[in-house]
Order: sequence, then structure tokens, then C-alpha cells
Amino acid sequence: MCGIVGYIGPREAYPIVIEGLKRLEYRGYDSAGIALFDGENLKVSKTKGKVVDLEAIAEKNITLSGNVGIGHTRWATHGIPNDVNSHPHVSNSGDLVIIHNGIIENYESIKQELITRGYTFKSDTDTEVLINLIEEVKKQENLKLGKAVQVALNQVIGAYAIAVFDKNKPEEIVVARLGSPLAIGIGDNEDEFFIASDASPFIEYTKNAVYLEDEEMAIIRFHKDIKIRKIKDDSVVDTYVQELQINLEQIEKGGYDHFMLKEIHEQPKAITDTYRGRLLRNEAIIKMAGVEDNMKTFLNANRIIIVACGTSWHAGLVAEYIFEDLARIPVEVEYASEFRYRNPVINENDVLIAISQSGETADTLAAIKLAKSKGAFVFGVCNVVGSSIARESDAGAYTHAGPEIGVASTKAFTTQITVLTLIALRLARAKGTISSSDFRTHLLELEMIPSKVEKALLSDENIQTISNIYKDVDHFLYLGRGYNFPVALEGALKLKEISYIHAEGYPAAEMKHGPIALIDENMPIVVIATKKGHYEKVVSNIQEIKSRKGKIIGIVTEGDTQVRTLADHVIEVPETLESLSPLLTTIPLQLLSYHIAVMLNKNVDQPRNLAKSVTVE
Ligand code: F6R
Repeated sequence: MCGIVGYIGPREAYPIVIEGLKRLEYRGYDSAGIALFDGENLKVSKTKGKVVDLEAIAEKNITLSGNVGIGHTRWATHGIPNDVNSHPHVSNSGDLVIIHNGIIENYESIKQELITRGYTFKSDTDTEVLINLIEEVKKQENLKLGKAVQVALNQVIGAYAIAVFDKNKPEEIVVARLGSPLAIGIGDNEDEFFIASDASPFIEYTKNAVYLEDEEMAIIRFHKDIKIRKIKDDSVVDTYVQELQINLEQIEKGGYDHFMLKEIHEQPKAITDTYRGRLLRNEAIIKMAGVEDNMKTFLNANRIIIVACGTSWHAGLVAEYIFEDLARIPVEVEYASEFRYRNPVINENDVLIAISQSGETADTLAAIKLAKSKGAFVFGVCNVVGSSIARESDAGAYTHAGPEIGVASTKAFTTQITVLTLIALRLARAKGTISSSDFRTHLLELEMIPSKVEKALLSDENIQTISNIYKDVDHFLYLGRGYNFPVALEGALKLKEISYIHAEGYPAAEMKHGPIALIDENMPIVVIATKKGHYEKVVSNIQEIKSRKGKIIGIVTEGDTQVRTLADHVIEVPETLESLSPLLTTIPLQLLSYHIAVMLNKNVDQPRNLAKSVTVE
């Protein structure tokens, strides 16, 4: 949460920082701010609202020149979103300025101590406390900025990615990270440097980046170099420069109105990219290095524990069905946030699979650390290459969804299911719990999923009509059974997060144990009723809804006639294996939530109160 951007070099910093903030707005969009230094003056402009609001204010209030700049887009933690709490924050002397992504947990005691030393505070933020702590340390011990940052950081508890600048030392920016990501872009001639929460703000300027590890800091010197050190013991760390694989096109809307819509339509390609080179149908094998290298560990595991949050947790639930069904390995799926705090029984015979699009989710990362401390083997399923969770895991497999920018997760979900299906199939083959003909059928069907997703996307017009009918209701219910119960949860999550309509997902049979009381003639109920998997049972559930006059939107297999006679609306998806059906049934639910949100004029890509990567617990 929160995005940070910085630039130091020969160009004007303002356009680079502003455009960079726009690309990072998915990380937080409560407020935004910028600080520029033009060789003489430090100019700060900040405001509640979005980066476009900042642009309007900055262009009015400050001169926009300067070769050094830092900027921030905020997802509020300490202090409400307002102008004063926005970043950057300036120290009491007016010399030091900071942007911060994270939380300083012991800020209150530090603040009290600083107040006794005469410091005053304008904002309610932990970040203003940190910059004044750095100032105090610098003054008391007569330290250079880099050293002062290091000493101060050793006094704080919490998480951070920070960039700090001293107007009296305009040739350097000091950055540091613990628990929040930070990338440094190195200009082609090594005479300019970029700082950002991810590489998207600087990919058109350079493909060379250094990702700071946790507990590392860097001093970035204009016209010189970067020096990376460990925050704790000051030891020097070798600079490892990576070549970035993403390009500008991937992070632009490409003609779509919203990133979410673009990402929904990218799913055929994303799923193909995810199984490419892994699913070798002609040879009837699945090749995944992370699984192959650790096959013994997987096969000897007592159980698999899956930890994740939100949509990734829903993908984990689908994986539970497929692992148990095909590979006959016991699986438990846990919310990472609960797992980490409930003293779970876990040991070296357990395999923990952590699923995360961003690879930065704080709770999932903490769950991994806990599992590792108890000796479990950790396998990461992440989308963002080089992310904290990918690095913290013992082994893993990337989803190759490409950058997901819309806050509501879409292609991440289907590509996570794709990877997890491949793993389950590979393990099932190794264990002998799947026949060779079933295995081949799965490979063939999985390979056909992208073209079937294309077909499912053709229901868009029908879905728009349905969206228009129900866009003004206050509540929705989503029902599914078996493999499609998690899809019902995911459909409900998508609707609530972008349209703010209350929605709940339930296993269809659970309806009669409570939620049925909600049903009347005003309640739309989305029922996933595909042919394979408990079809007759779901049809009975639909009858029960019909008797209570609920409005039924059935997600059915192409050519279905039975549900069509009962439902108010049907949306067809192509037929596939039950185990693969979530990859298709989720598509109309994504489109339904998207169209309702657009019709309600909601900010689809940046829904209120949310942020794309949740780096605070
Ligand atoms: C929902 C959504 C969130 C994320 C959750 C986990 O659309 O995007 O629920 O799925 O915050 O994020 P990752 O997968 O990055 O760990």
C-alpha cells in the first residue's frame, strides 16, 4: 500500500515523478504529494485526492523545475486522508524530506520523546515522526544523512520503504526497505537513478533495476553510483542489477476503458502463458522445475497447507478440491492473517503453498516466515517476479499473467488456478492417483481452456443487459457447489469490492441453513449450475429459490435447457471437466461485477478504501 517514486539525474524530475505516481496509483489513492529540489529551494506540494488533483495543485502552487524529486500516493494507515497527513513530510528544520510506504509501530513512544526535545508535529502520521527522528539523530551525533537514516531505522519497529532527501546535500537520496518493496532503476549511462515501489514508473527510461532486499538501504548519488548496505550491521551488499522483463505496453490500457476489462480479456493469453513450456501434451508430461526438484518433499508431505488472502485465498480453495480429488493429498486452506496468529500445529512434514499475485501481501509473508520457522517446506505461487514472497519461498512457480493493475483481481485468479492445477496433476501422476488416460484428458482440456475463455467472453452483451436490470439492488447472493463454491465466493467479492453492493457467496446446499431467509422477489441470486458436478442437486436448489420468488441468474453449460426453464436469465459457458470449470464460470462473474460497477459510475480500477498490494497487516 502506498506508492513511492523518486528521481535524481539530469532530467526534470516533475514529469517523471507525476507519471510514475499515476502508474503506482493502484497501490493507494487517498492522497498524493511531491517534493522537488531545484538547486536552491525545496518545494513541497501535497493534497487529499488523486494524482490528477495533485497535478492541478502543484502546477498552481510551486515552480515545477528541479532535477531531484520524490513523490507519494497514499493509502492511509495513521491519520485520515487529508492534505496535512499526505506525504512527503518535512522535518522540523525544513531540511529533510521523506516519503514512506509502511507502518512505524512504535511511533507514539518516539514521538513523545521527540516532543520532550522540542519537536512539534503537524500531522497524525508515523512518517513525520520518522523524519524527525532521523533529524534528531543526525543533529545529536553529527552524522551524514545515510548514517542518520541507518541509526534511526535501528530504533524503529515496523515496516517501511522510504526515500529521504536532505536539501543541503542535493546530490543524494537515501532509500531503505523492510517489508515493503523498493526498486531502483539505473539509467543507461549510470548518471541518473529512479526509485519506485515497483519498476513500472521507470520502464521507459531503463531496463536495469536493483531490488532492495529487506533490511537493506542504499545511498544513491547523482553522477556516481549506488552503495547498498545492511541496515543492522552496516555490512556492504553487492549490487545485483536485474534486467526487467516487462514493457510499457503491458502496463497501459491498450484501448480498453479500464485495466480491469483489459485484464479480463487478457485471460486467454495469460492462461496460455502460464502453462506454456509446462504442459507438454504431445509427450503427456507436465514439467515444472520447482515441483520436480522437490518431488520427494511433496510426496512425503503429511498434508499441504495453503495460505493466501482475498482472491488468492479463493484460488487456494479451488486448489484444495483439485489436490484432494486428483492427487489424494490432504489440504487445508487458511487465511494467512488467521494462520499467523493462531499458533497452528505445523512441522517439517508439512508443505505450505503461499499464493499471492503481488508477492508482497504482509500477512501471507508472515505466514511463510512462521511456517519456515517450524521447519515446513514453503512453495510460492506468485505473479510478480522477484517479489518478497517469491524470494522468501523455498521453491515456487510463477503465474505468467503479466502485470495486473486493476485493483480487483481477475487474471491473477485464473492463472493461479492454472498453476495449481498443473501442480496437482503432476503430483497425481507421480503418486499414481490418476490414470494415464485421465491425465491426458486433463492436459487436452486444460490446453483448450484459453479458447473456451474466449467463447465465454462473448456473453458480454447478455451480461450487460442483466447488469442493467440488477444494478440498483442492495444485495446479491452467489451460490455454487463443489469446485464452483469458491467461484461463488469470488463472484461475490468482485461485486462488493467494485460496485459496493453487498454480496455473499455460499455453497448452494448451505442456503437452506440460513441465507434462504434473505430470498424474496427483490433478491438476485447467481447460481453456478454447470452440467458436470452436482448438477441435479443445484437444480433442486434453484427450485427452492424459485419457490421463494428469488431472481435467478444461472451460469450454465452451453446448450442447457433445464436451468433455462427455471431461471430468469442464463449465461452460458463452454463445457469442460468439472475440475477445470472454475476457469470458465468465473469469467461471467467478473464481467457482471465490471458492468454493474461501470453502470453505477464507480471507479472500477481504484475502488474506495482498497489498494492493490496490502503490505500492512
Ligand atoms: C480482490 C483482491 C484482493 C487480493 C488480496 C491478496 O480482487 O485483489 O482480495 O486478492 O489482497 O493479494 P495478493 O494476491 O497480492 O496476495
